[in-house]
Amino acid sequence: MGEKKPLKDLTDLPGVGPATAQRLVEAGYTTIEAVAVATPHELSAVANLPITQATKIIEAAREALDIKIKTAIDLKKESLVRKKITTGSRNLDELLGGGVETKNITEFFGEYGTGKTQLCHQLAVNVQLPEDKGGLEAKAVYIDSEGTFRWERIEQMAHGVGLDPDKVMENIYWVRAINSHHQMAVVEKLFELIARENIKLIVVDSLTGHFRAEFPGRESLAMRQQLLNKHLHQLMRIAEVYNVAVVVTNQVMARPDIFFGDPTAAVGGHVVAHAPGVRVQLRKSRGNKRIARIVDAPHLPEGETVFAISEYGVRDAEP
Ligand SMILES: Nc1ncnc2c1ncn2[C@@H]1O[C@H](COP(=O)(O)OP(=O)(O)OP(=O)(O)O)[C@@H](O)[C@H]1O
Ligand SMILES: [Mg+2]
Repeated sequence: MGEKKPLKDLTDLPGVGPATAQRLVEAGYTTIEAVAVATPHELSAVANLPITQATKIIEAAREALDIKIKTAIDLKKESLVRKKITTGSRNLDELLGGGVETKNITEFFGEYGTGKTQLCHQLAVNVQLPEDKGGLEAKAVYIDSEGTFRWERIEQMAHGVGLDPDKVMENIYWVRAINSHHQMAVVEKLFELIARENIKLIVVDSLTGHFRAEFPGRESLAMRQQLLNKHLHQLMRIAEVYNVAVVVTNQVMARPDIFFGDPTAAVGGHVVAHAPGVRVQLRKSRGNKRIARIVDAPHLPEGETVFAISEYGVRDAEP
């Protein structure tokens, strides 16, 4: 990835000389966007600056990007900028208010085999569809923390929607996240890639797996929660700044009651629940059918729907 251009951009900010710019780039703040969404504390720490100067730099970056106080009508206009990506199932789209939306995080959670990864694959294909078919004619990034991404499945699903499978695969950037730290670093790096490429979907499958494995038990709870929060904020910022859809998965136990008394059991869910976004619970039903239910979304009606996972991907369930 070219580092010359972003470096030049950064030094355009008042108060950022070449040395500061260099430190920012090395710490992953390679673009004005990345600086604009940083906190003064973060920036001050990584670039070794006084908080006041860090604050000024962030303000300048925000001004450069036109981030300002808005009126309700501004918000309405912005919401019109929000786009939807079809899941492949009309019923599920309807439940989601039209599909998975940009400028937002959608979380699919449920036990193993409920279709979280299938939905992620399907969305990475569907984002490439033309707008009149429910896509955004754009590319996807797939952050794979569990090693469950299968290009073969993408190929099948591309056939299923009538797109050229090789082209579809060319338009999906795949990154294997090795551990939680790497997973967060990958997202930070995306600020650069997304500035250059027409990316409208970021998948993190799974969001919570590494964090759960690395911070097990009661004693590391606070740390895990703090890191997951930071990760979600990163993702929310990227969704906002670039108008992309972020889709994350979260494996949760089917019967949390068996963990009754263990405060760690619900924590992944707890953290994610307090982040902005849409939470969709998935459950198994008969055969290839799955049940989706929206959980605490103030702007969406309560309810559930059934969809199916077929050889060609996510579809409405046969009646
Ligand atoms: N080629 C295929 N054809 C039909 N159905 C498939 C195909 N591949 C996977 N499936 C269905 O998808 C299910 C697996 O779902 P998926 O991998 O999305 O689960 P998950 O929710 O991601 O689980 P985990 O929590 O273990 O990651 C399989 O049990 C099967 O029903
Ligand atoms: Mg999975």
